[in-house]
Amino acid sequence: MNTYNNTMTKTQLKYEIRRLAREKNAIIMAHYYVDGAVQDVADFIGDSLALAQQAAKTDAKIIVLCGVHFMGETAAILCPDKKVLVPDENATCSLAESCPADEFAFFVKAHPGYTVVSYVNTTAATKAVTDVVVTSSNARQIVESLPEDAKIIFGPDQNLGNYINSLTGRNMLLWNGACHVHARFSVEKILELKRLYPAAKVLVHPECKGPVVKLADKVGSTAALLKFAIADEAKEFIVATESGILHEMQKKAPQKTFIAAPPDDSTCACNECEYMKLVTLEKVYACLRDEQPVVSVDKEIAAKAVKPIERMLELSK
Ligand code: 13P
Ligand code: SF4
Repeated sequence: MNTYNNTMTKTQLKYEIRRLAREKNAIIMAHYYVDGAVQDVADFIGDSLALAQQAAKTDAKIIVLCGVHFMGETAAILCPDKKVLVPDENATCSLAESCPADEFAFFVKAHPGYTVVSYVNTTAATKAVTDVVVTSSNARQIVESLPEDAKIIFGPDQNLGNYINSLTGRNMLLWNGACHVHARFSVEKILELKRLYPAAKVLVHPECKGPVVKLADKVGSTAALLKFAIADEAKEFIVATESGILHEMQKKAPQKTFIAAPPDDSTCACNECEYMKLVTLEKVYACLRDEQPVVSVDKEIAAKAVKPIERMLELSK
């Protein structure tokens, strides 16, 4: 367990993190959902696809993956010769956990002849029984690249699966999983915000439930929502995804107003992933200093999981 003695200011911490990263030839990569201060200290910020692509091509010796555990695993699988660190090993993902590898393997075995498409939000062991991995950025494109008559299993996110079925006309067999953060957005709360901000456009991540997705002016991955918010002529946006993305939206489009859609079960103004928020500046510093925790993936599992991940990267070029 890394320890950190609480004597440095945020500015000193950021300075020390950058110094250690330079000295150790480390790249700090962050997902849009982590705390804004961690995003600010990163070399690279991206969505799940961009993080995997960046990991695959970096020549740094150490990768510090500021995100959740499956993101660290994906980097470790793609870069077996590098040291991959995650600031907090407890940063897991409810969606990945909604698909235990043994149960998924049993489900796959019960459906011979099916092509298995898995969302990147899965453990390495689940990826090991997968034919091709997708992210929210490329799921449509990859599913459409499969033969029209292919029988497909899609796991674990049923909301994303339903959305891709609706776009492609496919009838994929869906695993019954969900992200507890995205599943919490509600039509009622978004309509309440629409009454307050009638000109606002609604941005929705496809992990949200179908009725919420139907309200969207733009549905997409975090990177796609960010790109839309920057380019679109609207001045106000209601954002239905984890609220960490607002940090980069506000930075890239400071003249625009971004309103975080709240979860259905609270009066709190934003919807946060508590796993992503475990990643703090203090932990990034301690993890770079001590070079731990290191992400390790069982060799046999990694050898199987790398194939569907590489297939995804190939199909996303
Ligand atoms: P993207 O990074 O593909 O937008 O996915 C969001 C997410 O839930 C990551 O955990
Ligand atoms: Fe997992 Fe949802 Fe958190 Fe993303 S937001 S890491 S899918 S629990």
